[in-house]
Amino acid sequence: MSTNRTSRFGRSLLFLCIFVFVSLLSVQIEAATKKYQFNVEVKNVSRLCHAKPIVTVNGGFPGPTVYAREGDRVLINVTNHAQYNMSIHWHGLKQYANGWADGPAYITQCPIKTGSSYVYDFNITGQRGTLWWHAHILWLRATVYGAIVILPKQATPFPFPRPDGEQVIVFGEWWHADVEEVVKQGNALGLPPNMSDAHTINGKPGPLFLCSEKHTFVMEVEQGKRYLLRIVNAALNDELFFAIAGHNMTVVEIDAVYTKPFTTNALLIAPGQTTNVIVSTNRAPGRYFMAVRPFQDVPIPVDNKTATAILQYKNIPTTVMPLLPNLPQPNDTEFALTYNKKLRSLNTANFPANVPMKVDRSLFFTVGLGKSVCATCVNGTRLSASLNNITFVMPETGLLQAHYFNKKGVFTVDFPDKPPTAFNYTGAPITANLFTSKGTRLSKIAFNSTVELVIQDTNLLSVESHPFHLHGFNFFVVGTGVGNFDPATDPATYNLVDPPERNTIGVPTGGWAAIRFRADNPGVWFFHCHLELHTGWGLKTAFVVEDGPRKDQAVRPPPKDLPAC
Ligand code: C2O
Repeated sequence: MSTNRTSRFGRSLLFLCIFVFVSLLSVQIEAATKKYQFNVEVKNVSRLCHAKPIVTVNGGFPGPTVYAREGDRVLINVTNHAQYNMSIHWHGLKQYANGWADGPAYITQCPIKTGSSYVYDFNITGQRGTLWWHAHILWLRATVYGAIVILPKQATPFPFPRPDGEQVIVFGEWWHADVEEVVKQGNALGLPPNMSDAHTINGKPGPLFLCSEKHTFVMEVEQGKRYLLRIVNAALNDELFFAIAGHNMTVVEIDAVYTKPFTTNALLIAPGQTTNVIVSTNRAPGRYFMAVRPFQDVPIPVDNKTATAILQYKNIPTTVMPLLPNLPQPNDTEFALTYNKKLRSLNTANFPANVPMKVDRSLFFTVGLGKSVCATCVNGTRLSASLNNITFVMPETGLLQAHYFNKKGVFTVDFPDKPPTAFNYTGAPITANLFTSKGTRLSKIAFNSTVELVIQDTNLLSVESHPFHLHGFNFFVVGTGVGNFDPATDPATYNLVDPPERNTIGVPTGGWAAIRFRADNPGVWFFHCHLELHTGWGLKTAFVVEDGPRKDQAVRPPPKDLPAC
């Protein structure tokens, strides 16, 4: 009897031990540390019959994909062997109280000098899906970029049927010439630099271009399977349409947030955005082109050439000519508007859409092109851009350091909550009096307050679609519209139930977008147009989110190896 009891006790003890061991193990699995070494190095790469040296990470173009799991700590040691000072941004990661790992040069850090290293040390909390990383200084992101894949926590399934395979697909742009030289030339003239010579899919333009047979990305698939495509738009200046001949796509996630699934024959993706889709290989075994081409619905010149890759069913000879998909026309505004309206947060118990219902701080930013005086430029002026008529001036030291150490004279916090004058923003083109004011002016936001920001496009020189990106947060796109935002009527049309949650929003051409977020992440967070052309022209500002009352609600102390200016 007693032996029996002892052995039962022994057994329970054993089970308890196993249980404790297994849970410790799983805690360890969930809180793993992933380490990467990024060597920024120059490499000769040939595309479209031209070879040139480009800046890469570890010699790859695109660079390596960072794999992690939700909950992981990630350490990425970046060693800079290139001739440019450099920083890298982990686009879409929230970096809670940890702007030091965010990466935009002169905003959250000074660049990593040639010959130096810096460790980006961050936790991935409450996010899973596809994001990406890129250089965040000059136009170096033209070649310095790659994907970030965040898997859900161990034993947590996707909220959609498990795919049989997955593939990262990154779009980019390629110039024959040295991109930094192209930009310098443009700046010297005060005009837009030459547009790119090709778009690329995973670094390759595809067989519709000269010398590109071997520079074609091929994805091999089996018939009757489901594949998850993790799509990133890393292009510098072009919003892109994407389609696969003969195959529909089911959108399941944008910017690392699950969406209500919907099926589409083409998708639209702005620079900075990511989109996960499921593709069923349910067609006759064959070879099918995947294609990208820009969306541009105003007469602004754009590199309108189509880049292609191939969806290749197993055992189909490469002599079979692939079919091209029907992409929307480059100026298909209607497609763009309807596509974006289909995006909705999943909003389930596990993945709720916590939309701020009341607004503490209401902001209205106008987006405009403009001019500034430039003695050496054509016509004595250079093109510039502004938010609320302010062209942002880059500081010479990191704004986050200035904020953290309370260093005066680097920036002011008087960025206006609305434009200096109200006008008919999207009426006839305005071509006179385009001179803007200049400054390193930021907007100060109280900790944990809820912010609504309406971004209003204007017809200063021209209307245009602008993809705006906010660092440090996701936001909810509660409303969009064409024409002028009307504060009396438009809020009634908001979706406060399941609006798309993302980090980059394409503001409609000649229209507006209203976004909401809770300012629960202390630090200095960059807000800018993700068209590199416009960022360079000053279409940017930053939010200073104050520390909260608790110790863990304050900006962390800076890491020891933070680069100095
Ligand atoms: Cu992907 Cu500040 O950018």
